[in-house]
Amino acid sequence: MRSRGVIARVPAKVNLQLSVGPLGSDGYHEVTTVFQAISLFDDVSVATAAIGNGLTIDISGQTSMGVPVDSSNLAIMAAELMIKNYDLPKDLAIKLKKEIPVAGGMAGGSADAAGVIVGLDSLFELGLSRDEMESIGSQIGSDVPFSICGGVAIGTGRGDQITPALAKGTYFWALALSGQGLSTPAVYQECDRLREGLSISTPQVSESLMQALRAGDAKALGKSLTNDLQSAACSLRPALRLILDVGVDYGALGGIVSGSGPTVAFLVSSEEHAMDLTVALSASGVVSSVVRASGPVSGARIIESF
Ligand code: C5P
Repeated sequence: MRSRGVIARVPAKVNLQLSVGPLGSDGYHEVTTVFQAISLFDDVSVATAAIGNGLTIDISGQTSMGVPVDSSNLAIMAAELMIKNYDLPKDLAIKLKKEIPVAGGMAGGSADAAGVIVGLDSLFELGLSRDEMESIGSQIGSDVPFSICGGVAIGTGRGDQITPALAKGTYFWALALSGQGLSTPAVYQECDRLREGLSISTPQVSESLMQALRAGDAKALGKSLTNDLQSAACSLRPALRLILDVGVDYGALGGIVSGSGPTVAFLVSSEEHAMDLTVALSASGVVSSVVRASGPVSGARIIESF
């Protein structure tokens, strides 16, 4: 039997706002977040395989180091759930070509799960709606629904209830990467520790941020970036404060830890500005590498069938 497959391309994300509410009894925090999908991509290939081969995964690309190849990999979890829900063949070959940093606060693992869901929907012509795919994605991880949706969107609940938002213009980013990732649960725990004894209410979407996005005003957006996990990420990784200071000193419109970190995302005014900031951050010696990206871009989409 000839193998048939598709390749889905899936973007990374930054959180323009990440407001963390109280810890619920399910172990998750109620969040209000605004996501933007940016132009760093994982390519996720899913293909049929010979009977008896089972579910296999092959991982390559710039950021493939340290990605698990067992069932803790979100792509495998997503494939297993899709196989169970839709009675799909169990012999499938997944290939990840990774560009999104691992454990960097940019939804790299979630992107791979999103690629598998969208890829299998296309390969087996399941005809699932975006809502259906997002609801499957939310069972895998809180960021998976946004990786399917892309663009700019508001996330509520665990961050998995997605509402697309109006945004004008293109935004440019310089992203300071760290050699070593941060664990999302550890950052949330540190956030709880830092806020112990405070009364925490349900967060609201920032009106100034949404206004900046509607106007396509990068300068105003830079001033409106907020992340409640930033103090926690900096507490666990103090060097992040230094990186934030360097970026702002060198003229970034705004700087923020992305999600649970440790990637630091700097909003800049143009591609040239991103290049200037890249040079400054690299020369400062406090950053291991810098990549540039722009957003918003679309969510998981099929780029090839074979
Ligand atoms: O949903 P996901 O698997 O990405 O979440 C990883 C961990 O991050 C959770 O187990 C939880 O500890 C923490 N988390 C949280 N509140 C959220 C999302 C994630 O506490 N809204």
